[in-house]
Amino acid sequence: MEFSTKLGNPEKTRTQCVIVGVYEGKTLTTTARLLDKASGGAIRKVVNRGDLSGKAGETTMLHEVDGVNAQRVLIVGLGNQETADAARYIKVVSAAISALKSTPAKNTLCCLLEVDAEGKDSYWKARRIVERFEDAVYRFVDMKGKPPEQEVTLDSVGLQLADREEQDSVEAGIEDGLAVAAGVRVHKDLANTPGNICTPLYLADTAKKLARQFKGLKTTIIEEDEMLKLGMGSFLSVSQGSDQPGKIIIMEYKGADTKAPPHIVVGKGITFDTGGISLKPGAGMHEMIFDMCGAASVFGTMTCVATQQLPLNVIGVVAAAENMPSGRASRPGDIVKSMSGQTIEILNTDAEGRLVLCDALTYVERYKPASVIDIATLTGAAVIALGSPASALYSNDEELAAEIEAAAEETRDRVWRMPLWEEYQSQLNSAFADMQNIGGREAGSVTAACFLARFTKQFRWAHLDIAGSAYRGNGPNKGATGRPVAALTQYLMDRADEEDEA
Ligand code: BES
Ligand code: MN
Ligand code: ZN
Repeated sequence: MEFSTKLGNPEKTRTQCVIVGVYEGKTLTTTARLLDKASGGAIRKVVNRGDLSGKAGETTMLHEVDGVNAQRVLIVGLGNQETADAARYIKVVSAAISALKSTPAKNTLCCLLEVDAEGKDSYWKARRIVERFEDAVYRFVDMKGKPPEQEVTLDSVGLQLADREEQDSVEAGIEDGLAVAAGVRVHKDLANTPGNICTPLYLADTAKKLARQFKGLKTTIIEEDEMLKLGMGSFLSVSQGSDQPGKIIIMEYKGADTKAPPHIVVGKGITFDTGGISLKPGAGMHEMIFDMCGAASVFGTMTCVATQQLPLNVIGVVAAAENMPSGRASRPGDIVKSMSGQTIEILNTDAEGRLVLCDALTYVERYKPASVIDIATLTGAAVIALGSPASALYSNDEELAAEIEAAAEETRDRVWRMPLWEEYQSQLNSAFADMQNIGGREAGSVTAACFLARFTKQFRWAHLDIAGSAYRGNGPNKGATGRPVAALTQYLMDRADEEDEA
């Protein structure tokens, strides 16, 4: 989709739909007032009649308004102007987009930059508009026999500026919004691709393709024989049950001095999770094609970073394996030795994410990283605790946690901090080994994070459990959400800004 900035009279603009807002209490925005004037009071009339109360997210479509060149005028309720904030802004933009999507309009003039969002500037608003539009028009059609007739016709969006001063920041917002949207699309396409196609090999090939696409990006693959030499007994205990060989995929992006310590993102890439010998129930098992959403987030983030050519060193690592039951699969009760030297009693083969991640996390010690963030659809318990609005955040470093929280708030790709207290660690004590891979029914997302914490003492580390936020497993909106690509990219953009200032 194309985005551009527009100056001048919105009533004169030839567009298939102009979008304007009205606050509660019949307060028209500047553009709404202009259109109202040009049309001899058409908007005020609708508002006075009570067709639109101004409640946030309410919409009314007017057709062929006299004095306005647009074919349609979409009026969106903005809520109480006094309490307008970022959350409301997103709600309003989303409501406008969904009303627009039910029309055949191909282009639109969006006059929502002027809407209040508690201190947010026009860069922020432009970026959110671009990201919401791109999200809304996404369809996963790669697997359709013949391409479906396009349901969404919209292909160009003009953003109405208040004045020329706004131009640069809005254009910057569009550019960054498009870069994030490109990363989000990579995440969605990969995550939506089913397990028979999206195998560890497929992910490795995707990483090689990415390296060809972007300069400054290098991909290397660690194969199982090398993992054996590295002592990655924990990772291999998962991949051994599958006919698909496991792979650890390393994507190194160099945007800064070779000596600058890298920021590392590590993704859980279980391309299908049957549970292994601790087999999952049949109902809902199909959802486990999404058990590589952490990996998809790494691919999406690396795409953004490389697109924006951020002046940072960033390494993306994907722990890719399939969790299958077979004659070679690990059994409940098996004890394996991780690369760290710590031994693990596998009491449940369905707690496999932590088993592949712990060895990948030990491996990245060698880079002496500035920060390490792992991203994983790690536990059903995270879904129970937080649902879809927030990814669960854990960290062994207060500053890193605050930086991630700030990036997540800024992008509205939200996280919620969870505890990593010592008290929870005892749930992982094992009679036979250094630890067991499950911590019982209580605090399942916390004990999974506590398990990983035993492998990340050497660096500043954070863990995002995205089991609730990364995808919708069923229903009309089934599919990957692209989260938390926006938050991760923002975190890295903020680090790049710090470098600039230093
Ligand atoms: N991939 C699942 C976690 C998951 C469950 C993600 C539901 C999304 C939706 C993970 O590998 C898993 O099976 N975790 C187990 C851990 C348990 C055995 C300690 C779980 O959450 O039930
Ligand atoms: Mn599992
Ligand atoms: Zn899993």
